[in-house]
Amino acid sequence: MNDRWNNAELYESYVGRWSSLVSAKFLKWMNVGNGLVWLDVGCGTGALTKAILNSQNTRKVISIDPSEYHINFCREFIPDSKAEYYLSGAEKIPLEDKTVDVIVSGLVLNFIPNIKPAMSEFKRAAKDNAVIGAYVWDYSGEWK
Ligand SMILES: C[S@@+](CC[C@H](N)C(=O)[O-])C[C@H]1O[C@@H](n2cnc3c(N)ncnc32)[C@H](O)[C@@H]1O
Repeated sequence: MNDRWNNAELYESYVGRWSSLVSAKFLKWMNVGNGLVWLDVGCGTGALTKAILNSQNTRKVISIDPSEYHINFCREFIPDSKAEYYLSGAEKIPLEDKTVDVIVSGLVLNFIPNIKPAMSEFKRAAKDNAVIGAYVWDYSGEWK
């Protein structure tokens, strides 16, 4: 895997600077309630997970990523009694059916080669009235 994905400093300058900025705006826009179970798909080094833990009144935040480096990074640097980290891709979410109230995914969906199984997994893991939100870069817009 490219070094910029496995080195916190390189990752921060490449992706983290965007993640931190956008996650706050995204969570405000999501505007969901209190006491919910969240799932962050493709948590990376945890910018969105951290923003959820810091700004939302959650019951639990489950964060998954297929990169062992990223999951270990989150476990070490974003420990929280409400946080759980699992090594997993979106194609096989390690949760029972109808487990989560909110599913979020920041800057990830464009990296998933086969999106349909991933979307089926989102649907399976979500409770019936769950809220699902995601964002990716505007590649044709103001990328700098
Ligand atoms: C650009 S990073 C975004 C990380 C984080 N969400 C953020 O906002 O900083 C993309 C992440 O997607 C993860 N990823 C790649 N393929 C994935 C898949 N099939 N399912 C879930 N995550 C995946 C990568 O390991 C990486 O952590």
